[in-house]
Amino acid sequence: MLGSGALEHYRTMNNLNPLTQTMTEELINPDIRLARTLPSNFYFDERLFESSRRLFNNWQYALHISEFKKENIVPLTHIEEITGEPLFIVKDNSSCLSNVCTHRGMRLVEKPCSKTTLQCPYHGRTFDISGQMKHMPEFEQAIGFPSEEDNLKQHPLHIWKGLYFTSLSHVEKLPWSLVESRLDFLEIESFVHDASRDRDHHIMANWMLYVDNYLEGFHIPFVHPELNQALDYSGYTTELFEGGVLQIGKAASGDVKFDFPKGHPDYGQDIAAYYLWMFPNMMFNFYPWGMSLNIVIPVSSTETRVIYRGYVRDEDLAKAGAGSILDTVEIQDQEIIESVQKSMKSQSYDRGRYSPTREQGVHHFHRMISKRLD
Ligand code: FES
Ligand SMILES: [Fe+2]
Repeated sequence: MLGSGALEHYRTMNNLNPLTQTMTEELINPDIRLARTLPSNFYFDERLFESSRRLFNNWQYALHISEFKKENIVPLTHIEEITGEPLFIVKDNSSCLSNVCTHRGMRLVEKPCSKTTLQCPYHGRTFDISGQMKHMPEFEQAIGFPSEEDNLKQHPLHIWKGLYFTSLSHVEKLPWSLVESRLDFLEIESFVHDASRDRDHHIMANWMLYVDNYLEGFHIPFVHPELNQALDYSGYTTELFEGGVLQIGKAASGDVKFDFPKGHPDYGQDIAAYYLWMFPNMMFNFYPWGMSLNIVIPVSSTETRVIYRGYVRDEDLAKAGAGSILDTVEIQDQEIIESVQKSMKSQSYDRGRYSPTREQGVHHFHRMISKRLD
């Protein structure tokens, strides 16, 4: 069973006798009414943290089409931070390329640029923008050169409505088709990146605590009084699907809401926000004004960076409603998460229980983690 590694590790950490628990038992019970949350050591154990890093080799958000601006080549620095892999993207290519020279490993692209040929700044090897090696000085006598290995390695690229994704292993499907009927009307490809909305947060907590917190609106009345005014908490819903979670925030009466076209699945309803999480670390927040994005970067078992980007559809709508107080909400969340992190090593706490009506998203995430970590 896939989850047996995580379960085995939990037993070892807690001196549990494997004979008293069958190998088919799952760490996170599929029935949320019975299930207990992830053990607290998942949030600080070094081995589990290192093991979790490979989950990020799945699809990662690269950029929005508006971020090419006038350039056709953009290095994907945040993906390097997440996966350790230097990559760059070329606007009209069908794949992402390795940003590492095939001679002796020099970085090829340091910042966005417009070029049709790339020349390595170390010894002058040149590549075209599809990654083919074109020229290398002083290699006339090299035997068997050039070969396929001298071209830049390619990685898959997936483009959905102006959003670009790449992957080092692309093992799981991107779940866009499951949310397409809801988001199609927004014409995401026409949004424009607004650099004044960019933020970079450093949080003293494990990356999974950040995701846990994102996946429930249960805390909104307690932690976010301002957001609670803009949302109708009683109408907050959570939908689970393979590879992600969609949370739907209903607008409080009189507050900013989506103007849906006829035929939309939520036509007639007052919706303030769609909060879409994609496994393991991407959060797309859709508001009537546009989209904000949180990319979670694991730094260490107790440190996380979150980069935040804003893409505007309608500037005027950004001034009110659930999407207008994002900085306040972010700081409130971070304070809570950092406080929870400190408690994870408490001898009095190991696992909690889930609210069956308000924590389906967290339960879904914990099930995904327990099946993938070993
Ligand atoms: S490392 Fe690029 S040419 Fe030598
Ligand atoms: Fe929150």
